[in-house]
Amino acid sequence: MVNLGFSIGDLRFRNPVLTASGTFGYGSEFDDFMDVSRLGGIVVKGTTLEPREGNPYPRMAETPSGMLNSVGLQNKGIDYFGKYIYPRISEYDTNVIVNVNGSYVDDYVALAERLNSFDRIPAIELNISCPNVKMGGMAFGTNLGSAREVTRAVRAVYMKKLIVKLSPNVTNIVDFALAVEEEGADAVSLINTLLGMVVDVKRMKPALSTITGGLSGPAVRPVALRMVWQVARAVKIPVIGMGGIMNTDDALQFILAGASAIQVGTASFIDPLASVKILEGIEKYLTDKGISDISDIKGYINR
Ligand code: SIN
Repeated sequence: MVNLGFSIGDLRFRNPVLTASGTFGYGSEFDDFMDVSRLGGIVVKGTTLEPREGNPYPRMAETPSGMLNSVGLQNKGIDYFGKYIYPRISEYDTNVIVNVNGSYVDDYVALAERLNSFDRIPAIELNISCPNVKMGGMAFGTNLGSAREVTRAVRAVYMKKLIVKLSPNVTNIVDFALAVEEEGADAVSLINTLLGMVVDVKRMKPALSTITGGLSGPAVRPVALRMVWQVARAVKIPVIGMGGIMNTDDALQFILAGASAIQVGTASFIDPLASVKILEGIEKYLTDKGISDISDIKGYINR
């Protein structure tokens, strides 16, 4: 038996494979394909206090080895989540994490406060890195003072585990990781998407209604890996790595570079079973190498 588990403080995850927000719906969309409870956790769709329509279409574009999105945090808001989605996802025997968004600090605080009372949600992922909204999102995650302010304010009211999702669209992501750690984050997750754009030459127009969008997929992986490696060496809290993880080898790169866990994102659009295949692959890799605990390979490249 291989021990695949990891912890954020006293919150235990049975394995290091989580799904990334916005790429796995609320989990139930995948029930026909897999047993969602096998995963270490799922991070559900970005949620806001009020319903959001999202950005006008088109809001997706293909790129070489990746995709560009500008969804704009479309969701039905926390009331709908509590009434219709929460009862369903409470049945999962895994850690269900809500990705929390807002336009102002007070929005984040109010939402985090509400989520305290959801017994089956043991953690939130504070999204200060969405590149597709006019207010909030990346504006918080690319300014050190704002990143600190929103983390501090949410920490003051949120009683459970606080994961802060960092933006790669900064000069030095380590500064942001250290800042949110100092303000009380229990873990960091990185990277959110890289700001990019595509022009549709036939139409002579930007491919996305918002002109720019967030780039994800294998194209961003080397950048994500470099950032995870840098952050993991700098902070004491667990690092959850993501960015173009398509298969087991990709996931292992992040763990060998220092991540405690990984999130599978864009890969789930191509293969709904990507996350469980990666989980099985990690277990096989460790078994084949005769390693009984995944913590033995975490950050191995730095030894
Ligand atoms: C979106 O809804 O636009 C994407 C969310 C994100 O990048 O955080």
